[in-house]
Amino acid sequence: MSGNTKIALVTGASSGIGADTALRLREAGHTVYGAARRIERMTALRDAGVRVLSLDVTDEDSIRKAIDTIIHESGRIDVLVNNAGYGSYGSLEDVPLAEARAQIEVNVFGLAHLTQLVLPHMRARRSGTIINISSMGGKLVTPLGGWYHASKYAVEALSDALRMETKQFGINVVVVEPGSIRTEWGAIAAETLKETSSKGAYANLAEGVATTLAASSQPDAKMTSAPSVIGKTIVKAAGARRPRTRYRVGFGAAPMMSLRRLLPDRAFDFVIRRAFGI
Ligand SMILES: NC(=O)c1ccc[n+]([C@@H]2O[C@H](COP(=O)([O-])OP(=O)(O)OC[C@H]3O[C@@H](n4cnc5c(N)ncnc54)[C@H](OP(=O)(O)O)[C@@H]3O)[C@@H](O)[C@H]2O)c1
Repeated sequence: MSGNTKIALVTGASSGIGADTALRLREAGHTVYGAARRIERMTALRDAGVRVLSLDVTDEDSIRKAIDTIIHESGRIDVLVNNAGYGSYGSLEDVPLAEARAQIEVNVFGLAHLTQLVLPHMRARRSGTIINISSMGGKLVTPLGGWYHASKYAVEALSDALRMETKQFGINVVVVEPGSIRTEWGAIAAETLKETSSKGAYANLAEGVATTLAASSQPDAKMTSAPSVIGKTIVKAAGARRPRTRYRVGFGAAPMMSLRRLLPDRAFDFVIRRAFGI
């Protein structure tokens, strides 16, 4: 086995960014575990040599079982790609708190729990790379996405703390901040938004935002990037001895984050409302 061959776990590998990443890591010669709930969606990955695991990141037993399987079969985990996630959309007034908790459960506690179980193995070897998929939405906010953004802001904060905590053990922590990427994410976010806020006081905002979100999932969607843009970045970060702490990639990520830093709040609100047609 070459010294550069890594044992990698990619969550959310049944679709979009995770599926692309798992395939590319495999193509790069690594041993790759691709995990998600819908294992029936991962036959192409299996055919390509990715080891498919059933994983629900909200289920503690499921997480423990997945990590145990990898350690039993491969003895270590060098790279953890915390990618599983979805967008729960709706106005703060409308989103039931049970759904808000579910959003944080998947996007934040799922990532945190996997990280907790992987860290002892990485610490023992004094090496490893944890790659957390945040979003440009971890640095800026759009209307009706409050809980999604809260989850990604949390991913940003946890990643910064983790990076400082684990430096002493030789573990890298990387944040990937994708822009707008053509995956199922937009269609799922649009569905949650319609269910939550399409009737009532925020219906006017919901229509414009849902249309924009749903459009980003179309195969010919303009102003989006392919998931491969993120997959390639993750492969680069996974193989680097000293990866960057942050990668801003995909349509809109770098300019929108710069704009957010430069503009006062109300000027930025104006840009965002225009972009969403609201
Ligand atoms: N697309 C974008 O524009 C964009 C932009 C910035 C950031 N991101 C982030 O990128 C990541 C990947 O999203 P994507 O765009 O590739 O979306 P996607 O195509 O919808 O894929 C999401 C993946 O997450 C998995 N997942 C969802 N809930 C899960 C759970 N409870 N347990 C385990 N897996 C779960 C899904 O698998 P199962 O349903 O089969 O479990 C699926 O494989 C997410 O964290 C998303 O927030 C996306």
